[in-house]
Amino acid sequence: MKPQQPLAKRLCVLGLLAGFCVHAAAAAQTPALDDKPAFIDSLIERMTLEEKIGQLRLISIGGDMPRPRILEELAAGHIGGTFNTVTRHDNRPMQDAAQRSRMKIPIFFAYDVVHGHRTIFPIGLGLASSWDMDTIARSGRVAAIEASADGLDMTFAPTVDISRDPRWGRTSEGFGEDPYLVSEIARTMVKAYQGKSPAARDSITASVKHFALYGAVEGGRDYNVVDMSPMRMHQDFLPPYRAAVEAGAGGVMVALNAINGVPASANSWLLRDLLRRDWGFRGITVSDHGAISELMRHGVARDGREAARLAIKAGIDMSMADSLYRDELPALVKAGEVDMGEIDAAVREVLGAKYDMGLFHDPYRRIGVAADDPQDVNAESRLHRSEARDVARQSIVLLENHQQTLPLKKRGTIALVGPLADSPIDMLGSWSAAGVAGQAVTLRQGMREALGDAATLGYARGANVTDDQHMVDYLNFLNWDNPEVVQDPRSAAEMIAEAVALANKADVIVAAVGESRGMSHEASSRTSLQLPPSQQRLLEALKQTGKPLVLVLMNGRPLELGWAKANADAILETWFSGTEGGHAIAEVLFGDYNPSGRLPISFPRSVGQIPTYYNHLRVGRPYVEGKPGNYTSQYFEEPTGPLYPFGYGLSYTQFELSDVSLSSRELSRGGTLEARVTVRNSGQREGATVVQLYIQDLVASVIRPVKELKAFRKVMLKAGEEQEVRFSLTEDDLKFFNAQLQQVAESGEFEVQIGLDSQRVQSQRFTLH
Ligand code: NOJ
Repeated sequence: MKPQQPLAKRLCVLGLLAGFCVHAAAAAQTPALDDKPAFIDSLIERMTLEEKIGQLRLISIGGDMPRPRILEELAAGHIGGTFNTVTRHDNRPMQDAAQRSRMKIPIFFAYDVVHGHRTIFPIGLGLASSWDMDTIARSGRVAAIEASADGLDMTFAPTVDISRDPRWGRTSEGFGEDPYLVSEIARTMVKAYQGKSPAARDSITASVKHFALYGAVEGGRDYNVVDMSPMRMHQDFLPPYRAAVEAGAGGVMVALNAINGVPASANSWLLRDLLRRDWGFRGITVSDHGAISELMRHGVARDGREAARLAIKAGIDMSMADSLYRDELPALVKAGEVDMGEIDAAVREVLGAKYDMGLFHDPYRRIGVAADDPQDVNAESRLHRSEARDVARQSIVLLENHQQTLPLKKRGTIALVGPLADSPIDMLGSWSAAGVAGQAVTLRQGMREALGDAATLGYARGANVTDDQHMVDYLNFLNWDNPEVVQDPRSAAEMIAEAVALANKADVIVAAVGESRGMSHEASSRTSLQLPPSQQRLLEALKQTGKPLVLVLMNGRPLELGWAKANADAILETWFSGTEGGHAIAEVLFGDYNPSGRLPISFPRSVGQIPTYYNHLRVGRPYVEGKPGNYTSQYFEEPTGPLYPFGYGLSYTQFELSDVSLSSRELSRGGTLEARVTVRNSGQREGATVVQLYIQDLVASVIRPVKELKAFRKVMLKAGEEQEVRFSLTEDDLKFFNAQLQQVAESGEFEVQIGLDSQRVQSQRFTLH
């Protein structure tokens, strides 16, 4: 990107010819707030190099330096923005300090508001399971309202990294494996956070992350490298970031990983060519935590000076929690290794983002006045419980339900067991922003309230999440003073015996098992997708009682559920469902809500089958169901394909789909073709399902996937009701990246597949001319 000359300089150059240079320079000292470019140019023109570099620093409160030092640096104009404070009371003195600086440039306040702020919504996988954009938007809007009311201007979200490897702990944060679904959600979330405009008092600027391809780290091991063909990148992994950019995201957080040998933080192809030139991104790029220093560990920078030079030249505007811009840029500019124009370009983006946030018009736009500060930041009245409950309900996926075990009757005796049945912190999931564990409704609390006096609810913990002390220590590493994984001191045998005794007296067992929230988090990659042995042993003992066994899973990644599928009577996937999770799960268990969630990610049968994703490319020797044969693409000692496919989920009612009918067998370029199907609720109660449309390009110049989601519709139907669902297809839906990376739709035959999950579909063919 070519940096622009400051306005006054431009006017001066022109003005010299006309003799009004002095006048133009004077005019630049009175910035016109209504004229964004002129206003920003006039600021840049008057800033010292130190002040400019200060704008490029995003520091973490708490981590980087002591509070008094931060205030000094702010007053000197040496900080552009901060993150990790969550109250107006904390933020106000920092903005005051910035307002005492020579240039009085406001700072912005950022935070990881990923799935809620004070009210915590389900984790990303849970939100995606709703397949409902209005529902997802509601979660983002509430988060923005709550975060902005706490004086925050920006969130490091949404996380739109496609993940096809559930070993990666951050799979939990994203929205699953599919480019189309994740792109829809990316767009929805950006619009929800930013509201009518990023300048609105109740909006926060979205900084989409982690650009790019972070979800594809090799082996699912966090911070690992990514090596990927350009075709796959463009086709499958880049679309969600692009969707967020096109929806107007004001920020982009750059990923920690390398891409094909070049760390994202030093990758000018990624940041300058693709993001800014090709996608037209206007906004700020921020590095991830400490990423610029990490360029030395990646081995692409000899020292801090080289790291800073690579990052600024690649297009990183703001350095996060990193002192290298402050320490190295001044000398780099003086030595001519970095142009002032390059610094100015980055500063212009930072000031532009602040302008768009409305901070030049009012630096206290979201901080407000002290007299209006909430007395108690955690007050109940500040939460949005009914929204959280509604969203959480829709995020729950019913995986199994033999002999209509669910819904449970509100009578008799229920044995609730499991280490996650009454663990408030785990309800919240990772990245729970300013959420308070004590305000989360556990399953035990939710069931007790739902039952009232109607039935007896017994509870036994039954097991620790894990008995592996190494795992416990790892998960508690960052919270020694307040450990999250608290071990029950009793022996495993004692705990199991208590649970079994309880189960023996009960009519049904509800077992809440899975992962503690820290197990599905940054830096929490796993080699196994199994339940830890402590919980597996508990389940096996419970199974021996012969009582109906209902599993309520809480986890942040697909788990290996072979045993559960074979032995449980019902399985509910509830992810980490947030502040109101316990109420929502209880509603589903007792049938007050008919589950409607659908998986946004495939569940592999075993860790050895990873990657398992539905939209894989075709091969020359495909495995054919029922006719496996030797020399076909499969692992021979296990059935092929996922245990639970993408798009799958059951209901307490049944749905039937008619055959697919097409308005024509031909689609012309520029034309439209309609695919129709009738969905009927053939069961006994009202419920919702998701009608999913997939396309397969039958013959193309490059290998195309076996199918790709192109549209979906969530439909609510009363018992016996039916509805025709119509999808319009155009040439755009058939486009893909060819070997030359051009986005094209090639003439020829296509298959439309419509189903209620990605596997069981009805199909029809048509031809594109
Ligand atoms: C590191 C994480 O990778 C990123 O997602 C997060 O936004 C930053 N830390 C700031 O907390």
